[in-house]
Amino acid sequence: MTARDKVWTDVIAVRDLEPGDSTPVTLGSRALAVFDATDGIYVSLARCTHGAANLCDGHFDGRFIECPLHQGLFDVQTGAAKAAPARVSLRMFDTRVMDGMVQIRV
Ligand code: FES
Repeated sequence: MTARDKVWTDVIAVRDLEPGDSTPVTLGSRALAVFDATDGIYVSLARCTHGAANLCDGHFDGRFIECPLHQGLFDVQTGAAKAAPARVSLRMFDTRVMDGMVQIRV
C-alpha cells in the first residue's frame, strides 16, 4: 500500500473528546490515543513505546503526555520521545477534523 492508497477513517466525534486531555479510542485492533492539544488534535497509538502502559492514563498538559508507568515524556505534535526512559517516538497518524469527526489516514 502506498501513501496514496491510505483513506481517511473516522475515529471519534470531536464533541466526545475529553476537553484538553487524552481520550482512548479502539479502532479495529488498534488502541489509539486522541489528544485535544492546545493547538489542535493529534492521534497516536496509545501504548507507550517503552512498555505496556496506556498513555491515556498519563498526565497531559496540552502538548506533552507523561507515561503513567515510568514517566517517559512524548511531544504529541511530533511523537518525539522527550524524557527517559522513553527513547522511541510514538507512532503518530495524519489527523484531520471533518464534519465534526476526528479522522486519521490509515
Ligand atoms: S512504560 Fe512508558 S515510560 Fe516506561
